[in-house]
Amino acid sequence: SQNKLWGGRFTQPTDKFVEEFTASIDFDKRLYHQDIRGSAAHARMLGRQGIIPNEDVEKIVHGLKEILEQIEAGQFDFSVSLEDIHMNIEARLSKKIGEAGKRLHTGRSRNDQVALDIRLYLRDEIVEIVAYLDMLIDSLLNQAEANLDVIMPGFTHLQSAQPILFSHHLMAYVEMFKRDKGRMEDGLKRVDVLPLGAGALAGTTFPIDREYVAEMLDFPAVTRNSLDAVSDRDFALEFMAASSILMMHLSRFSEELIIWSTSAFRFIELSDGFCTGSSIMPQKKNPDVPELVRGKTGRVYGNLMALLTVMKALPLAYNKDMQEDKEPLFDTIDTVKGSLKIFADMIREMRVNREKMSQAAGQGFSTATDVADYLVRTGLPFRDAHEAVGKAVAYCVENDMELTELSLAEWQLFSPHFSDDIFDKISVEASVNARNVIGGTARNRVEDEIRRCREGR
Ligand code: ARG
Repeated sequence: SQNKLWGGRFTQPTDKFVEEFTASIDFDKRLYHQDIRGSAAHARMLGRQGIIPNEDVEKIVHGLKEILEQIEAGQFDFSVSLEDIHMNIEARLSKKIGEAGKRLHTGRSRNDQVALDIRLYLRDEIVEIVAYLDMLIDSLLNQAEANLDVIMPGFTHLQSAQPILFSHHLMAYVEMFKRDKGRMEDGLKRVDVLPLGAGALAGTTFPIDREYVAEMLDFPAVTRNSLDAVSDRDFALEFMAASSILMMHLSRFSEELIIWSTSAFRFIELSDGFCTGSSIMPQKKNPDVPELVRGKTGRVYGNLMALLTVMKALPLAYNKDMQEDKEPLFDTIDTVKGSLKIFADMIREMRVNREKMSQAAGQGFSTATDVADYLVRTGLPFRDAHEAVGKAVAYCVENDMELTELSLAEWQLFSPHFSDDIFDKISVEASVNARNVIGGTARNRVEDEIRRCREGR
């Protein structure tokens, strides 16, 4: 009945609204390339195993190639009544080549077919996302290298804490993005497994050769349980979890770029191409790009929660619920790729206001810890040193002074252990370079880390 590929047991047509409601073609058509590639490999295997005639295989492969060209030329009419990309392509193939087309689905189900298509699609996208991460890391390394002499205030509680190299701050993000890359690459191992051959849920009665299909499609492994193969979406969830963490990093970075661009800070200037103006306030240059990336983090988290919730309590094996995997997955891919690309470009063009940063670096008693450390070196216990310097800070607050403005006589009001070498210890440069430990902000340590990253370590 009708034009359905499964119409045999039906006498009534599908309700029109039900047809639209249940169709996925509007969003799963983006799997067309993977669907065709998978079908061609399946057909070749069927021919090689003597399950279908080799002449049919030739017709199928050729027909699929033509369909691919049609889709890419925008000449393929996708039909909602054919539900999804799998049946749109298969129906077209049968229309084109007849009998042979109708043999393609032998020993296969849409359940293992769709699992295959998503895995094929996602693994290419992960490779692209890793390449974008590399681009962003590269932009950061270039900025870190170019600004090695820029000192900024390091913050805790967004209060001035200790002076740090601006490069050290950028390199913190390099560490985060390197871990994101590691998570993407690790998850890829579990995407890269062939589910085809699971059939609807239990395997197939035909003597298929799954390993041959895996080889043709470049999968290093095949799934080992057919029920799991068709009902597992862990690989998508892992990707979406890794994406959520990645977006969390981008949103923290966004927040800092936004703060650094305010007129109060003016630590950086984003290039005009990444900002917009206001329709009423002529002076405005708004950091729209980081704001939007910060905002888009919400949808990536939402997508992860959406799919986790779809999968929660689903009995084995395939359930139609799982068709809801695609939109959140695709949206996550698009959002992450777009955010990474725009960040790589924006960071490359970011201008750094070294005067503003260095000026701010010395404010807020940011070298107070250095003074305490100085006293410790004269033999004072750290707690006593902390107390003495705290009093010196209170004195400065009261008299509206910076630590660098205190005379030796004033220092000695708080401890007899001060002598005139204290003045060398409290510059922001001295403070930064004194933190000479692995992972510290001393210039040579930061240079080491930039070098290590460049060497891919
Ligand atoms: N469009 C479906 C999906 O995306 C394909 C698998 C359908 N299988 C089925 N038995 N209805 O999940």
